[in-house]
Amino acid sequence: MEVVTAEDYDGMSKEAAKFIYEAIEKNPNITLGLATGSTPQKMYQYLAEMLNENNIDLSNVHTVNLDEYVGLDDDNKQSYHYFMLKEFFNKVNIPLENTHIPDGKSEDLEAEVANFEKIITDLGGIDLQLLGVGRNGHIGFNEPGTPFNSRTQVVSLTDVTIKDNSRFFDKIEDVPTRALSMGLETIMDAKSILFLASGEAKRDAVNSLINGEVTEEIPVTILQKHDDLTVVLDKDVLGE
Ligand code: GLP
Repeated sequence: MEVVTAEDYDGMSKEAAKFIYEAIEKNPNITLGLATGSTPQKMYQYLAEMLNENNIDLSNVHTVNLDEYVGLDDDNKQSYHYFMLKEFFNKVNIPLENTHIPDGKSEDLEAEVANFEKIITDLGGIDLQLLGVGRNGHIGFNEPGTPFNSRTQVVSLTDVTIKDNSRFFDKIEDVPTRALSMGLETIMDAKSILFLASGEAKRDAVNSLINGEVTEEIPVTILQKHDDLTVVLDKDVLGE
């Protein structure tokens, strides 16, 4: 595990954007695993700026997203489809047909998760997976107790996650209770992983990642077993 410490959220975002930018420069056929949330939001802004300023060709870049809520329309502002278009895809010259996000509106969710795994396999696997973390240590939407050998599946969200994510919705009742999420094994199959965390609220989760024992009760701890993991943190998450 390589740990990079940035001064603050802005510094973490710049470091992460540079990391992904360089990975794309090195491999113009890269398959990126992408994440949503407040953590990577500014990183996407910097990354889009860098890609556009340098006229980087993204026509052979493919992306697969970690997760999506069940039941939200693509144009619902809280859907991860909406987030990805607004924060990144609409700002850069990536062909939209190269971008893949699990379809939480599918009438056959089991077929959709199987199809999503197939998309990843057909792309030759994920070269670089971006990750944030939930306060309870979830990655993607893999909540505590998710088996380490899980593949993309339909999951139920915990009360902690519903409460945390309700800050984006008008009321807590509007937060979907289910999601589609890449599994922990799907994530661990990525050739490299870039993990980001910022702010005091993530301190316990990050402490478990760096110092804790590997346990299914804290999903993020599985990343200790990945042999190409880069962690970018800000000083607030580290504390004293
Ligand atoms: C959500 C997402 C995760 C994300 C986490 C943290 O539950 N499914 O992929 O890492 O929240 O989000 P944030 O970065 O907004 O704190």
